[in-house]
Amino acid sequence: MMTFFAGLPAMAQRYRPITSALVKAAIIKDGAVLWEERPDPQLGPDELLLRVEAAGINGADLLQRAGHYPPPAGVPADMPGLECAGVVEAVGERVRGFRPGERAMGLLAGAGQAELTTVHERLALRVPDGVGIVEAGGFPEVFCTAHDALFSQAALAMGERLLVTGAAGGVGMAAVQLGVAAGATVVASARDPELRARLGALGATCAGPAEALALGPFDVVLELVAGAGVGAALGALAPSGRVVVIGTGAGALAEVDLRTLMGKRAVLRGSTLRNRSLEDKALVVRQVERHVIPLVASGRVRVAVEAVFPFERAQEAYERFAAGKKFGKIVLARSERP
Ligand SMILES: NC(=O)c1ccc[n+]([C@@H]2O[C@H](COP(=O)([O-])OP(=O)(O)OC[C@H]3O[C@@H](n4cnc5c(N)ncnc54)[C@H](OP(=O)(O)O)[C@@H]3O)[C@@H](O)[C@H]2O)c1
Repeated sequence: MMTFFAGLPAMAQRYRPITSALVKAAIIKDGAVLWEERPDPQLGPDELLLRVEAAGINGADLLQRAGHYPPPAGVPADMPGLECAGVVEAVGERVRGFRPGERAMGLLAGAGQAELTTVHERLALRVPDGVGIVEAGGFPEVFCTAHDALFSQAALAMGERLLVTGAAGGVGMAAVQLGVAAGATVVASARDPELRARLGALGATCAGPAEALALGPFDVVLELVAGAGVGAALGALAPSGRVVVIGTGAGALAEVDLRTLMGKRAVLRGSTLRNRSLEDKALVVRQVERHVIPLVASGRVRVAVEAVFPFERAQEAYERFAAGKKFGKIVLARSERP
């Protein structure tokens, strides 16, 4: 893991209280990401106020920076951040499951890359002992997305064959590990040979995008890249196979042979997480709490972090994300951490 904290103040005292009515946050302005002051977030009755220690960057943040993929209603369009981890500062009057001082991480619709943020209790998870806060900051969005896509959307079962495309990124490294942990045979495709070697250490058979398709037939293809590859993925399916598209880095248009779809009794489906209802997202988070958190707590599944940048260098961190060729997550973190 690379860290980029040079030139910033050394680690200071534990848990510096934030007393000002203004807190700093990543703010999108004219296509750049600045670290600027904003009013304190207001705590709702069902929410935790989280002092953010670390917050992962996701593809949706970059789309939001470019003026696309606006967040759902109620979330400021200029405040990115779909996941974070930190220490509970205060809890709303109806919160029963968390107390101030505990470490928690949350799935958000935005505004997570900030000194303080609010998380609905039902979208929050306790950070297991032994898991670093930086890793926790890069956990919720990618592991919730990967778990939902593999098990709720694609119904991946033990002994099945899974292909994950674009596997070296955040969702990919999560999906590969969850597939292996669930007893699937996992093939991971990635363009970069060095990243393929790192994916192999997670228990997958790794190959370039074209070669990976030849390692089928697959019961499930988790399509994180899409474009023309979707047609080829259908061709590589076993009978009754499922392709789930959740990323379109290679394009949103594909030619699909419907006779292949019919002949294989195949399913082609897509999914997004951020715009779902609270109820839907809470179900995803509780599934992850039940099935994934124990694996993370035991060290069997981990959050791969390629690089950590201090909040103040958010713009640089976004550029690193955009440059690609990374293994897992780019995470922003407080420059003064316990
Ligand atoms: N539907 C949802 O709810 C949801 C939730 C989270 C994420 N997503 C989407 O899912 C995708 C993966 O997310 P992530 O967090 O894993 O992103 P990420 O960390 O940026 O990883 C994307 C991976 O895809 C590869 N890739 C991109 N374009 C490619 C292409 N044309 N051909 C082959 N490989 C390509 C990249 O490889 P290189 O390093 O070689 O470029 C990288 O390893 C993104 O598109 C993201 O927006 C969707």
